[in-house]
Amino acid sequence: MSGKTRAAVAGANGYAGMTLVHLLARHPAVELVQLTSRSQAGRPYAEVFPLHDLKGEFRPEPDASQVEVVFSCLPHNVGAAKAREWLEAGARVVDMSADFRLKDPALYPVWYRQEHPASDLLASAVFGLPELHAADLPEARLVAVPGCYSTAAILGLAPAVAAGLVASDVIVDAKSGVSGAGRSLNLGVHFAEVNETLGAYAITGHRHLPEVLQELAGLADKPPDVTFVPHLVPMTRGILATCYFDLAGPLAQLEQAYREFYSEQPFTRVVDRTPTTKLASHTNLCLVNVAAQGHKAVVTAALDNLVKGASGQGVECFNIAFGLDRRLGLEAALQWP
Ligand SMILES: NC(=O)c1ccc[n+]([C@@H]2O[C@H](COP(=O)([O-])OP(=O)(O)OC[C@H]3O[C@@H](n4cnc5c(N)ncnc54)[C@H](OP(=O)(O)O)[C@@H]3O)[C@@H](O)[C@H]2O)c1
Repeated sequence: MSGKTRAAVAGANGYAGMTLVHLLARHPAVELVQLTSRSQAGRPYAEVFPLHDLKGEFRPEPDASQVEVVFSCLPHNVGAAKAREWLEAGARVVDMSADFRLKDPALYPVWYRQEHPASDLLASAVFGLPELHAADLPEARLVAVPGCYSTAAILGLAPAVAAGLVASDVIVDAKSGVSGAGRSLNLGVHFAEVNETLGAYAITGHRHLPEVLQELAGLADKPPDVTFVPHLVPMTRGILATCYFDLAGPLAQLEQAYREFYSEQPFTRVVDRTPTTKLASHTNLCLVNVAAQGHKAVVTAALDNLVKGASGQGVECFNIAFGLDRRLGLEAALQWP
């Protein structure tokens, strides 16, 4: 026994799963013992991850009785039914999908087109945003890591909402790189379809909106209404969320609220210049800038959708849940330009 936590990654050949493998393979407290994929089953790990010294072959499903934690990177609606089996086998679960993020079971048929298959687990699932829920994570057996857009939008808005400095509805104009759509083949993300073009989508309501509303509701008695419009940008990775709302106080007070809210946070930083996605790329950072145009606050938040927007945040939650230093395995090499 190595004394390390034995981990499985389900969906290890997708973008979120591959990012997790890269992070966990060098994590000093983790032994990566199972990687799953239906299409890669039977193939040696080394063929898919030649840069890591990983021994073994892909399997179609995790054997949760052999690990202490399953990191699930399966599509939504797929892992929801499997999580119970993993938990009953004794593993803890860190889920990158949307399956356990929303507390209200009635929202799943509305946003995910099916009744939740394990709605009794929703109450115990911890929303895996450490900036808001670090205190709930140490005992968590099931962690629901928030969506990439939602992470950016919530981190961009939480201090203002908590401080009562939002005097209007909020508009979140969000942009994402194409890896946010995953690795599976899909006409909408073919090179010729996304290159040199830009467009909004899900204008009538994106699935990450209820996550944002749920979390902001936990910060104020009367949280603002939110209009959230995502855009697909011809870049590989990154999210930029630009949040607009009427200021309920002076800009200096808003800036102070953000600096205080994030003063102890290792990965969310208030920065003096408007952040770009490249600044946060390949890191677990969320960079937040607070500014105004007249009475209108303009808060921008940038992060890497695959790291702070998914698998890096999953590792951050795992670290807290297993009593480790929250930063372990998340020190990023400088990637610039
Ligand atoms: N991409 C992002 O930026 C991002 C950010 C935050 C959260 N997430 C969430 O993370 C999860 C994975 O996203 P992704 O972008 O990594 O997707 P992806 O690249 O499409 O990967 C999906 C993975 O799931 C497996 N899979 C697909 N259908 C399956 C099924 N029916 N049963 C079992 N395994 C199945 C795939 O492998 P096989 O087909 O070989 O089994 C693959 O390993 C999703 O829930 C997504 O919403 C993604």
